[in-house]
Amino acid sequence: MSLNIKKQLNSQLSKDVLNVLELCSQTADENGFKIYLIGGIVRDLLLKRKSFDIDISVEGDAIKFCHLLAEKKYCKITQVQNDLKTAKAVFEHDVEIDFASTRQEFYPRRGHLPVVAKIGCSLEEDVYRRDFTINSLAMSLNKENYGDVIDYVGGVNDLNNKKLRVLHDNSFNEDPSRILRCLKFAARFNFHRDEHTKALQEKYINRQLHDDISWTRIKSELKQSFSLNKAKVYDMFLVNENYKLIYGERPDIKGLEIKTLVDKYQPEHVWLVYLGTVLKNKNIIESFCFTRAEKKIFTDIEHLMNAHLSMLNSNYDIYKFFDKKTMESVLVYYLLSKRKEALIYLEKLSLIKVELNGDEIKELGITDGKQIGKILDELLKKKLAGSIVKKGDEIDFVKSKIK
Ligand code: CTP
Repeated sequence: MSLNIKKQLNSQLSKDVLNVLELCSQTADENGFKIYLIGGIVRDLLLKRKSFDIDISVEGDAIKFCHLLAEKKYCKITQVQNDLKTAKAVFEHDVEIDFASTRQEFYPRRGHLPVVAKIGCSLEEDVYRRDFTINSLAMSLNKENYGDVIDYVGGVNDLNNKKLRVLHDNSFNEDPSRILRCLKFAARFNFHRDEHTKALQEKYINRQLHDDISWTRIKSELKQSFSLNKAKVYDMFLVNENYKLIYGERPDIKGLEIKTLVDKYQPEHVWLVYLGTVLKNKNIIESFCFTRAEKKIFTDIEHLMNAHLSMLNSNYDIYKFFDKKTMESVLVYYLLSKRKEALIYLEKLSLIKVELNGDEIKELGITDGKQIGKILDELLKKKLAGSIVKKGDEIDFVKSKIK
């Protein structure tokens, strides 16, 4: 007997979403389409977890199906991709749904984006292009079997046994970013790789050159995994040797050390603190196409790691060493070098500022730009040494210079 999750659906999804699914269901029945909830949402319903994206698979042409919904004024189509025959639509109360035509794919180049072999295939053929069995479940939305789970690959069993299992032996060769997806799901659900999947991963990581890879996908998965800010993700990333995928180096750091620092200092780019401790290869850093702000973090790490630290005798030296460096890079530097000056800087010194500005010093009677710069620097030195605290003392110091 097939598993039916209509009850779960009714209790876990909002009324607005349920109404939209009902409209889709009716329209499919009236026009002879077979449609299914697919992938992450079915997995999350079975796990009784909140799901964010709603994906519907249409056996046939999803764009045509969306137009039928739009003609009835049920939704507005917001995006159409003709080559894949996918569409995005927004319904009442901002319910957003991604519609995809069932498709078969193949990978002409290892690690690169797949090419579509057939659109509008059977659901079963569609399912086999996917990553893990738990992500390959569908749930019928047609009236006659509404809520029936369709499981061609043993996904329900794997969900019950907390297992992450690929659908075929070539899965990681086709898409190595699945190795990182595996990490993400393992951490998110507390699942484990089944033995065969683990062996396939190890084989891929240890035997292949990883040049021929989609860095966009790898970057996106790394970002998702490390943004979770979970110590376990990082520990698994190291233990499973996933860092080899990005030609990284294994540091002697525990995930909890990073998490503790991240929680305390709250840097903007959390994921780059984790990644920064392993990623050194300049070519890969280039391949990741980082934004300007992200790139600066890696340049700063490089500068800090190559700089000579022996001269850090005073607070002023420490301040100057880390001044204008991104917080992420200072944290990575601390994690790799264990130099406590990095934390002294973040905790104490970076908060110390000269209160007077250039204009105020001018008003006090010093007009030469160079001299103003010098005075500001001297003031900073004194504030860092603790011999000047208040703004009044800063003013007195400037006045003493005039005399
Ligand atoms: N998928 C895949 N291989 C990938 C990425 C995605 O096979 N490299 C498939 C999976 O079946 C997945 C579906 O495409 O369920 C949708 O992808 P995505 O939205 O990234 O994943 P979700 O499973 O929905 O995960 P999340 O909860 O993180 O959104």
